[in-house]
Amino acid sequence: MAEQSVGLRSFSSRAETRTIKPCPRLEGKVVLPGDKSISHRAAILNSLAKGKARIDNFAPGRDCLATIRCLKALGVKIVREGSRDWHTLLVSGTGEDGLQEAVNVLDAENSATTMRLLGGLLVGQPFLSVITGDTSLRNRPMGRLIEPLRLMGADIWGRGQDSFAPLIIKGGKLRGIDFTLPIPSAQIKSAILLAGLFARGNTVLRQTIPSRDHTERMLKQMGASLESEGNSISLLPLSNPLISVNLHVPGDISSAAYFLIAGIIHPSARIVIRDCGINPTRTGIIDILLAMGAKLKINNERLEAGEPLADIVVESSELTGIEVGGDIIPRLIDEIPVLAVAGCVAKGKTIIRDAGELRVKESDRIATVASELSRLGAKIEPLPDGMVIYGGRPLSGTEVDSHFDHRLAMSLAVAGLIAKGETTIKHAQATQVSYPDFWQTLLSVTSKEPT
Ligand code: S3P
Repeated sequence: MAEQSVGLRSFSSRAETRTIKPCPRLEGKVVLPGDKSISHRAAILNSLAKGKARIDNFAPGRDCLATIRCLKALGVKIVREGSRDWHTLLVSGTGEDGLQEAVNVLDAENSATTMRLLGGLLVGQPFLSVITGDTSLRNRPMGRLIEPLRLMGADIWGRGQDSFAPLIIKGGKLRGIDFTLPIPSAQIKSAILLAGLFARGNTVLRQTIPSRDHTERMLKQMGASLESEGNSISLLPLSNPLISVNLHVPGDISSAAYFLIAGIIHPSARIVIRDCGINPTRTGIIDILLAMGAKLKINNERLEAGEPLADIVVESSELTGIEVGGDIIPRLIDEIPVLAVAGCVAKGKTIIRDAGELRVKESDRIATVASELSRLGAKIEPLPDGMVIYGGRPLSGTEVDSHFDHRLAMSLAVAGLIAKGETTIKHAQATQVSYPDFWQTLLSVTSKEPT
Protein backbone atom coordinates (compact mmCIF):
# COMPACT_ATOMS: atom_id res chain seq x y z
CA MET A 1 0.00 0.00 0.00
CA ALA A 2 1.22 3.50 -0.75
CA GLU A 3 2.10 5.76 2.13
CA GLN A 4 -0.17 8.81 2.53
CA SER A 5 1.74 11.72 1.02
CA VAL A 6 3.26 14.44 3.11
CA GLY A 7 5.20 17.58 2.37
CA LEU A 8 2.78 19.64 0.30
CA ARG A 9 2.31 23.20 1.39
CA SER A 10 -0.45 23.46 3.97
CA PHE A 11 -2.85 26.37 3.99
CA SER A 12 -4.19 28.39 6.84
CA SER A 13 -7.95 28.28 7.20
CA ARG A 14 -7.77 31.28 9.56
CA ALA A 15 -10.58 33.76 8.93
CA GLU A 16 -9.36 36.60 6.78
CA THR A 17 -11.09 39.88 6.04
CA ARG A 18 -10.25 42.11 3.08
CA THR A 19 -11.29 45.71 2.57
CA ILE A 20 -11.73 47.09 -0.93
CA LYS A 21 -11.92 50.79 -1.72
CA PRO A 22 -12.83 52.32 -5.05
CA CYS A 23 -9.78 53.41 -7.06
CA PRO A 24 -9.53 56.17 -9.66
CA ARG A 25 -7.98 54.00 -12.36
CA LEU A 26 -7.59 50.27 -13.13
CA GLU A 27 -4.69 49.51 -15.38
CA GLY A 28 -2.14 46.79 -15.99
CA LYS A 29 -1.29 43.36 -17.28
CA VAL A 30 -2.67 40.27 -15.59
CA VAL A 31 -0.85 36.95 -15.68
CA LEU A 32 -3.36 34.27 -14.77
CA PRO A 33 -3.05 31.09 -12.73
CA GLY A 34 -3.23 27.92 -14.82
CA ASP A 35 -6.67 26.63 -15.70
CA LYS A 36 -8.07 24.59 -12.83
CA SER A 37 -10.07 22.13 -14.95
CA ILE A 38 -7.14 21.44 -17.28
CA SER A 39 -4.71 21.10 -14.35
CA HIS A 40 -6.82 18.43 -12.61
CA ARG A 41 -7.00 16.44 -15.83
CA ALA A 42 -3.31 16.86 -16.66
CA ALA A 43 -2.33 15.48 -13.23
CA ILE A 44 -4.82 12.59 -13.28
CA LEU A 45 -4.31 11.45 -16.88
CA ASN A 46 -0.51 11.75 -16.74
CA SER A 47 -0.59 9.64 -13.55
CA LEU A 48 -2.15 6.83 -15.60
CA ALA A 49 0.25 7.21 -18.51
CA LYS A 50 3.55 5.49 -19.03
CA GLY A 51 6.49 7.87 -18.72
CA LYS A 52 7.25 11.26 -17.21
CA ALA A 53 5.33 14.45 -17.87
CA ARG A 54 6.21 18.01 -17.07
CA ILE A 55 3.25 20.29 -16.35
CA ASP A 56 4.02 24.02 -16.30
CA ASN A 57 1.72 26.71 -14.94
CA PHE A 58 -0.17 24.09 -12.91
CA ALA A 59 -3.14 25.71 -11.09
CA PRO A 60 -1.82 26.77 -7.69
CA GLY A 61 -5.09 26.70 -5.71
CA ARG A 62 -6.11 24.25 -3.02
CA ASP A 63 -8.46 22.32 -5.33
CA CYS A 64 -5.70 21.10 -7.62
CA LEU A 65 -3.34 20.47 -4.72
CA ALA A 66 -6.04 18.22 -3.24
CA THR A 67 -5.91 16.22 -6.48
CA ILE A 68 -2.13 15.92 -6.22
CA ARG A 69 -2.33 14.78 -2.59
CA CYS A 70 -4.87 12.09 -3.53
CA LEU A 71 -2.77 10.89 -6.48
CA LYS A 72 0.33 10.72 -4.28
CA ALA A 73 -1.65 8.75 -1.72
CA LEU A 74 -2.51 6.32 -4.54
CA GLY A 75 1.18 5.74 -5.19
CA VAL A 76 1.92 8.22 -7.99
CA LYS A 77 5.28 9.96 -7.82
CA ILE A 78 4.69 13.67 -8.26
CA VAL A 79 7.40 16.18 -7.46
CA ARG A 80 7.69 19.88 -7.98
CA GLU A 81 10.46 21.43 -9.97
CA GLY A 82 12.26 24.23 -8.20
CA SER A 83 11.08 25.94 -5.08
CA ARG A 84 8.20 28.00 -6.45
CA ASP A 85 5.30 26.14 -4.89
CA TRP A 86 3.65 23.67 -7.24
CA HIS A 87 3.99 25.80 -10.33
CA THR A 88 5.81 23.10 -12.31
CA LEU A 89 5.08 19.42 -11.64
CA LEU A 90 6.91 16.34 -12.77
CA VAL A 91 4.52 13.40 -12.85
CA SER A 92 5.90 9.87 -13.17
CA GLY A 93 2.97 7.91 -14.58
CA THR A 94 2.34 4.51 -13.07
CA GLY A 95 0.93 3.02 -16.28
CA GLU A 96 -2.67 1.84 -16.42
CA ASP A 97 -2.34 -0.82 -13.70
CA GLY A 98 0.08 0.89 -11.32
CA LEU A 99 -2.18 2.70 -8.85
CA GLN A 100 -2.10 1.32 -5.30
CA GLU A 101 -4.57 1.28 -2.44
CA ALA A 102 -4.22 4.37 -0.23
CA VAL A 103 -3.59 3.72 3.46
CA ASN A 104 -6.06 6.39 4.53
CA VAL A 105 -9.22 8.18 3.47
CA LEU A 106 -8.64 10.40 0.41
CA ASP A 107 -9.50 14.05 1.04
CA ALA A 108 -10.83 16.11 -1.88
CA GLU A 109 -11.23 19.15 0.44
CA ASN A 110 -13.51 21.68 -1.36
CA SER A 111 -13.01 20.19 -4.83
CA ALA A 112 -15.92 18.43 -6.53
CA THR A 113 -13.76 17.93 -9.62
CA THR A 114 -11.25 15.95 -7.53
CA MET A 115 -13.96 13.81 -5.93
CA ARG A 116 -15.98 13.10 -9.06
CA LEU A 117 -13.07 12.47 -11.43
CA LEU A 118 -11.26 10.28 -8.93
CA GLY A 119 -14.55 8.50 -8.19
CA GLY A 120 -14.73 7.52 -11.88
CA LEU A 121 -11.10 6.44 -11.92
CA LEU A 122 -11.20 4.44 -8.69
CA VAL A 123 -14.24 2.29 -9.50
CA GLY A 124 -12.05 0.51 -12.07
CA GLN A 125 -9.06 -0.13 -9.76
CA PRO A 126 -8.72 -3.45 -7.90
CA PHE A 127 -8.78 -2.03 -4.36
CA LEU A 128 -10.85 -0.19 -1.79
CA SER A 129 -11.02 3.61 -1.64
CA VAL A 130 -12.83 6.01 0.64
CA ILE A 131 -13.04 9.63 -0.43
CA THR A 132 -14.36 12.56 1.57
CA GLY A 133 -14.28 16.36 1.49
CA ASP A 134 -15.00 19.48 3.52
CA THR A 135 -18.47 20.44 4.81
CA SER A 136 -19.44 22.13 1.54
CA LEU A 137 -18.36 19.18 -0.63
CA ARG A 138 -20.05 16.66 1.67
CA ASN A 139 -23.32 18.48 1.00
CA ARG A 140 -23.02 18.48 -2.80
CA PRO A 141 -24.91 15.90 -4.88
CA MET A 142 -23.09 12.63 -5.57
CA GLY A 143 -26.09 10.54 -6.70
CA ARG A 144 -25.45 11.92 -10.21
CA LEU A 145 -22.02 10.23 -10.06
CA ILE A 146 -23.02 7.00 -8.33
CA GLU A 147 -25.95 6.20 -10.65
CA PRO A 148 -24.12 5.98 -14.02
CA LEU A 149 -21.07 4.31 -12.44
CA ARG A 150 -23.36 1.61 -11.01
CA LEU A 151 -24.79 1.07 -14.50
CA MET A 152 -21.20 0.21 -15.46
CA GLY A 153 -21.16 -2.43 -12.72
CA ALA A 154 -19.33 -0.34 -10.12
CA ASP A 155 -19.56 -0.97 -6.38
CA ILE A 156 -19.83 2.56 -5.03
CA TRP A 157 -21.83 3.83 -2.10
CA GLY A 158 -22.39 7.21 -0.46
CA ARG A 159 -23.82 8.69 2.69
CA GLY A 160 -27.54 9.60 2.79
CA GLN A 161 -28.71 6.65 0.69
CA ASP A 162 -26.01 7.13 -1.92
CA SER A 163 -26.56 10.87 -2.26
CA PHE A 164 -23.51 12.41 -0.60
CA ALA A 165 -19.84 11.94 0.29
CA PRO A 166 -18.00 10.29 1.91
CA LEU A 167 -17.95 7.77 -0.92
CA ILE A 168 -16.88 4.16 -0.51
CA ILE A 169 -15.60 2.40 -3.60
CA LYS A 170 -14.79 -1.28 -3.95
CA GLY A 171 -13.03 -1.18 -7.29
CA GLY A 172 -13.56 -4.02 -9.74
CA LYS A 173 -14.65 -5.08 -13.20
CA LEU A 174 -16.71 -2.64 -15.25
CA ARG A 175 -18.61 -2.72 -18.53
CA GLY A 176 -19.00 0.13 -21.05
CA ILE A 177 -22.39 1.85 -21.24
CA ASP A 178 -24.39 3.87 -23.70
CA PHE A 179 -25.58 6.74 -21.56
CA THR A 180 -27.34 10.07 -22.08
CA LEU A 181 -26.11 12.61 -19.55
CA PRO A 182 -29.20 14.01 -17.80
CA ILE A 183 -27.36 17.25 -16.89
CA PRO A 184 -24.54 18.98 -18.78
CA SER A 185 -21.82 18.19 -16.23
CA ALA A 186 -18.19 17.88 -17.35
CA GLN A 187 -17.31 16.29 -14.02
CA ILE A 188 -19.78 13.43 -14.50
CA LYS A 189 -18.86 13.06 -18.18
CA SER A 190 -15.16 12.87 -17.25
CA ALA A 191 -15.81 10.39 -14.41
CA ILE A 192 -17.61 8.05 -16.82
CA LEU A 193 -14.83 8.39 -19.40
CA LEU A 194 -12.19 7.58 -16.76
CA ALA A 195 -14.18 4.51 -15.73
CA GLY A 196 -14.64 3.65 -19.42
CA LEU A 197 -10.86 3.42 -19.89
CA PHE A 198 -10.94 0.39 -17.54
CA ALA A 199 -14.25 -1.15 -18.70
CA ARG A 200 -14.95 -4.07 -21.00
CA GLY A 201 -16.45 -2.77 -24.28
CA ASN A 202 -17.23 0.61 -25.73
CA THR A 203 -18.54 3.57 -23.68
CA VAL A 204 -20.85 5.97 -25.51
CA LEU A 205 -21.90 9.27 -23.95
CA ARG A 206 -24.62 11.47 -25.37
CA GLN A 207 -24.90 15.09 -24.24
CA THR A 208 -28.08 17.10 -24.72
CA ILE A 209 -26.08 20.27 -24.04
CA PRO A 210 -22.28 20.07 -24.38
CA SER A 211 -20.07 20.86 -21.38
CA ARG A 212 -16.33 21.65 -21.21
CA ASP A 213 -14.35 19.15 -23.27
CA HIS A 214 -10.86 19.21 -21.69
CA THR A 215 -10.96 15.49 -20.84
CA GLU A 216 -11.81 14.52 -24.42
CA ARG A 217 -9.08 16.76 -25.86
CA MET A 218 -6.43 15.46 -23.47
CA LEU A 219 -7.38 11.80 -23.88
CA LYS A 220 -7.05 12.20 -27.67
CA GLN A 221 -3.65 13.87 -27.25
CA MET A 222 -2.54 10.94 -25.10
CA GLY A 223 -3.49 8.33 -27.70
CA ALA A 224 -6.78 7.02 -26.26
CA SER A 225 -9.33 5.68 -28.77
CA LEU A 226 -11.88 8.45 -28.35
CA GLU A 227 -14.08 9.95 -31.01
CA SER A 228 -16.40 12.92 -30.65
CA GLU A 229 -19.12 13.52 -33.19
CA GLY A 230 -21.62 16.28 -32.61
CA ASN A 231 -22.66 15.91 -28.99
CA SER A 232 -21.72 12.20 -28.75
CA ILE A 233 -18.49 10.70 -27.50
CA SER A 234 -17.33 7.14 -28.04
CA LEU A 235 -14.43 5.65 -26.08
CA LEU A 236 -12.72 2.27 -26.28
CA PRO A 237 -11.06 0.83 -23.16
CA LEU A 238 -7.29 1.16 -22.90
CA SER A 239 -5.48 -1.39 -25.03
CA ASN A 240 -2.17 0.50 -24.98
CA PRO A 241 -0.97 2.72 -22.16
CA LEU A 242 -1.72 6.44 -22.44
CA ILE A 243 1.24 8.50 -23.67
CA SER A 244 2.31 11.20 -21.22
CA VAL A 245 2.01 14.82 -22.42
CA ASN A 246 4.10 17.79 -21.38
CA LEU A 247 2.09 20.97 -21.30
CA HIS A 248 2.01 24.59 -20.26
CA VAL A 249 -1.47 25.00 -18.80
CA PRO A 250 -3.30 27.99 -20.36
CA GLY A 251 -4.51 30.75 -18.01
CA ASP A 252 -7.88 30.13 -16.39
CA ILE A 253 -10.69 32.03 -18.10
CA SER A 254 -12.76 31.64 -14.93
CA SER A 255 -10.08 33.59 -13.03
CA ALA A 256 -9.74 36.06 -15.92
CA ALA A 257 -13.45 36.86 -15.63
CA TYR A 258 -12.90 38.98 -12.48
CA PHE A 259 -10.41 41.22 -14.25
CA LEU A 260 -12.38 41.28 -17.51
CA ILE A 261 -15.46 42.51 -15.70
CA ALA A 262 -13.56 44.86 -13.37
CA GLY A 263 -11.97 46.50 -16.44
CA ILE A 264 -15.27 46.73 -18.29
CA ILE A 265 -17.42 48.19 -15.49
CA HIS A 266 -14.82 50.55 -14.00
CA PRO A 267 -15.18 54.07 -15.43
CA SER A 268 -11.45 54.45 -16.12
CA ALA A 269 -9.76 51.19 -17.00
CA ARG A 270 -7.67 49.23 -19.46
CA ILE A 271 -6.55 45.71 -18.58
CA VAL A 272 -4.55 43.26 -20.66
CA ILE A 273 -4.91 39.58 -19.80
CA ARG A 274 -2.16 37.33 -21.07
CA ASP A 275 -2.29 33.68 -22.22
CA CYS A 276 -5.92 33.06 -21.38
CA GLY A 277 -7.55 29.74 -22.31
CA ILE A 278 -10.31 30.33 -24.87
CA ASN A 279 -11.62 26.80 -25.36
CA PRO A 280 -15.05 27.41 -26.98
CA THR A 281 -16.76 25.30 -24.30
CA ARG A 282 -15.61 27.94 -21.77
CA THR A 283 -16.03 31.29 -23.55
CA GLY A 284 -19.71 31.97 -22.85
CA ILE A 285 -18.66 34.90 -20.66
CA ILE A 286 -16.89 36.59 -23.60
CA ASP A 287 -19.92 36.13 -25.87
CA ILE A 288 -22.26 37.62 -23.24
CA LEU A 289 -20.01 40.56 -22.38
CA LEU A 290 -19.67 41.42 -26.10
CA ALA A 291 -23.44 41.18 -26.49
CA MET A 292 -23.84 43.56 -23.50
CA GLY A 293 -21.63 46.11 -25.29
CA ALA A 294 -18.21 45.46 -23.73
CA LYS A 295 -15.07 46.82 -25.37
CA LEU A 296 -13.17 43.54 -25.47
CA LYS A 297 -10.55 42.40 -27.99
CA ILE A 298 -9.00 38.96 -28.46
CA ASN A 299 -5.43 39.00 -29.81
CA ASN A 300 -2.68 36.53 -30.60
CA GLU A 301 -4.76 33.33 -30.76
CA ARG A 302 -2.77 30.08 -30.65
CA LEU A 303 -2.88 26.41 -29.55
CA GLU A 304 -1.13 24.67 -26.63
CA ALA A 305 -1.44 20.88 -26.23
CA GLY A 306 -4.74 20.89 -28.10
CA GLU A 307 -6.18 23.86 -26.14
CA PRO A 308 -6.68 27.34 -27.69
CA LEU A 309 -5.43 30.44 -25.87
CA ALA A 310 -5.10 34.19 -26.54
CA ASP A 311 -4.50 37.60 -24.98
CA ILE A 312 -7.58 39.64 -24.08
CA VAL A 313 -7.80 43.42 -23.73
CA VAL A 314 -10.73 45.17 -22.04
CA GLU A 315 -11.59 48.84 -21.54
CA SER A 316 -14.23 50.79 -19.64
CA SER A 317 -17.56 50.22 -21.38
CA GLU A 318 -21.25 51.05 -21.16
CA LEU A 319 -23.17 47.80 -20.68
CA THR A 320 -26.80 47.01 -21.44
CA GLY A 321 -28.70 44.24 -19.59
CA ILE A 322 -29.34 40.98 -21.40
CA GLU A 323 -31.18 37.64 -21.09
CA VAL A 324 -28.84 34.70 -20.50
CA GLY A 325 -30.14 31.14 -20.67
CA GLY A 326 -30.26 27.85 -22.58
CA ASP A 327 -27.22 26.13 -24.08
CA ILE A 328 -24.78 28.91 -23.16
CA ILE A 329 -25.16 28.27 -19.41
CA PRO A 330 -22.58 25.41 -19.10
CA ARG A 331 -20.14 27.62 -21.07
CA LEU A 332 -20.21 30.28 -18.32
CA ILE A 333 -21.63 28.57 -15.23
CA ASP A 334 -18.68 29.49 -12.95
CA GLU A 335 -18.66 33.10 -14.16
CA ILE A 336 -22.29 33.86 -13.28
CA PRO A 337 -21.50 35.36 -9.83
CA VAL A 338 -19.24 38.00 -11.38
CA LEU A 339 -21.57 38.41 -14.38
CA ALA A 340 -24.20 39.40 -11.80
CA VAL A 341 -21.88 42.27 -10.75
CA ALA A 342 -21.76 43.41 -14.39
CA GLY A 343 -25.58 43.17 -14.44
CA CYS A 344 -25.72 45.55 -11.44
CA VAL A 345 -24.07 48.36 -13.44
CA ALA A 346 -25.66 47.60 -16.83
CA LYS A 347 -28.53 49.65 -18.20
CA GLY A 348 -31.83 47.79 -17.71
CA LYS A 349 -32.49 44.23 -16.56
CA THR A 350 -30.18 41.22 -16.81
CA ILE A 351 -32.08 37.95 -16.55
CA ILE A 352 -30.30 34.66 -15.88
CA ARG A 353 -32.27 31.44 -16.36
CA ASP A 354 -31.65 27.68 -16.76
CA ALA A 355 -28.87 27.90 -14.19
CA GLY A 356 -30.36 25.82 -11.35
CA GLU A 357 -26.93 24.12 -11.07
CA LEU A 358 -25.77 27.28 -9.28
CA ARG A 359 -27.70 26.06 -6.23
CA VAL A 360 -25.37 23.06 -5.80
CA LYS A 361 -21.97 24.73 -6.22
CA GLU A 362 -19.54 25.65 -3.40
CA SER A 363 -22.45 27.69 -1.98
CA ASP A 364 -26.03 28.09 -3.20
CA ARG A 365 -24.85 30.77 -5.61
CA ILE A 366 -28.33 32.03 -6.48
CA ALA A 367 -29.04 32.73 -2.80
CA THR A 368 -25.56 33.97 -1.83
CA VAL A 369 -25.02 36.22 -4.87
CA ALA A 370 -28.47 37.78 -4.43
CA SER A 371 -28.09 38.32 -0.68
CA GLU A 372 -24.52 39.67 -0.68
CA LEU A 373 -24.91 41.99 -3.69
CA SER A 374 -28.21 43.23 -2.19
CA ARG A 375 -26.29 44.25 0.93
CA LEU A 376 -24.27 46.54 -1.33
CA GLY A 377 -27.49 48.11 -2.62
CA ALA A 378 -28.15 45.97 -5.70
CA LYS A 379 -31.69 44.91 -6.56
CA ILE A 380 -31.71 41.21 -7.38
CA GLU A 381 -34.68 38.91 -7.47
CA PRO A 382 -33.69 35.25 -7.07
CA LEU A 383 -35.49 32.74 -9.33
CA PRO A 384 -35.52 28.95 -8.82
CA ASP A 385 -33.04 28.61 -11.73
CA GLY A 386 -31.40 32.03 -11.92
CA MET A 387 -32.00 35.65 -11.04
CA VAL A 388 -33.23 39.00 -12.31
CA ILE A 389 -30.76 41.82 -11.77
CA TYR A 390 -32.11 45.36 -11.99
CA GLY A 391 -29.11 47.35 -13.22
CA GLY A 392 -28.11 50.96 -12.83
CA ARG A 393 -28.50 51.30 -9.04
CA PRO A 394 -25.43 52.70 -7.28
CA LEU A 395 -23.61 50.30 -4.96
CA SER A 396 -22.40 51.34 -1.49
CA GLY A 397 -19.70 49.56 0.44
CA THR A 398 -20.57 47.62 3.59
CA GLU A 399 -19.65 44.29 5.22
CA VAL A 400 -20.32 41.22 3.06
CA ASP A 401 -19.50 37.53 3.38
CA SER A 402 -17.95 35.06 0.92
CA HIS A 403 -19.87 32.15 2.49
CA PHE A 404 -16.53 30.33 2.08
CA ASP A 405 -17.11 30.38 -1.69
CA HIS A 406 -14.05 31.47 -3.70
CA ARG A 407 -16.04 32.76 -6.65
CA LEU A 408 -18.28 34.86 -4.42
CA ALA A 409 -15.27 36.37 -2.57
CA MET A 410 -13.71 37.52 -5.87
CA SER A 411 -17.02 38.76 -7.32
CA LEU A 412 -17.61 40.87 -4.20
CA ALA A 413 -14.11 42.34 -4.57
CA VAL A 414 -14.99 43.44 -8.12
CA ALA A 415 -18.24 44.98 -6.83
CA GLY A 416 -16.20 46.75 -4.12
CA LEU A 417 -14.09 48.49 -6.76
CA ILE A 418 -17.12 50.40 -8.04
CA ALA A 419 -19.04 50.76 -4.78
CA LYS A 420 -18.99 54.04 -2.83
CA GLY A 421 -16.94 53.78 0.35
CA GLU A 422 -15.38 50.67 1.81
CA THR A 423 -16.47 47.07 1.15
CA THR A 424 -15.29 44.57 3.73
CA ILE A 425 -15.31 40.92 2.67
CA LYS A 426 -15.43 38.32 5.44
CA HIS A 427 -13.86 34.87 4.88
CA ALA A 428 -11.83 36.26 2.00
CA GLN A 429 -9.37 33.36 2.36
CA ALA A 430 -11.78 31.33 0.21
CA THR A 431 -9.84 32.64 -2.83
CA GLN A 432 -7.11 30.10 -1.94
CA VAL A 433 -9.26 27.42 -3.56
CA SER A 434 -8.65 28.63 -7.11
CA TYR A 435 -6.64 31.87 -7.10
CA PRO A 436 -4.20 32.31 -4.19
CA ASP A 437 -2.60 35.40 -5.83
CA PHE A 438 -5.93 37.11 -6.50
CA TRP A 439 -5.52 39.93 -3.94
CA GLN A 440 -1.97 40.66 -5.02
CA THR A 441 -2.97 40.78 -8.68
CA LEU A 442 -5.90 43.04 -7.84
CA LEU A 443 -3.54 45.34 -5.96
CA SER A 444 -1.23 45.45 -8.97
CA VAL A 445 -3.95 46.86 -11.27
CA THR A 446 -5.43 49.34 -8.81
CA SER A 447 -3.74 52.63 -8.23
CA LYS A 448 -5.16 52.80 -4.71
CA GLU A 449 -4.38 49.86 -2.51
CA PRO A 450 -7.03 47.44 -1.29
CA THR A 451 -5.83 46.61 2.25
C1 S3P B 1 -15.76 21.48 -13.84
C2 S3P B 1 -17.05 21.36 -14.27
C3 S3P B 1 -18.15 22.22 -13.82
C4 S3P B 1 -17.62 23.50 -13.16
C5 S3P B 1 -16.53 23.20 -12.18
C6 S3P B 1 -15.35 22.54 -12.88
C7 S3P B 1 -14.73 20.55 -14.34
O1 S3P B 1 -18.93 21.53 -12.86
O2 S3P B 1 -18.67 24.21 -12.54
O3 S3P B 1 -16.09 24.38 -11.55
O4 S3P B 1 -13.53 20.83 -14.21
O5 S3P B 1 -15.13 19.52 -14.91
P1 S3P B 1 -20.09 20.47 -13.28
O6 S3P B 1 -19.47 19.32 -13.96
O7 S3P B 1 -20.73 20.09 -11.98
O8 S3P B 1 -21.02 21.22 -14.17
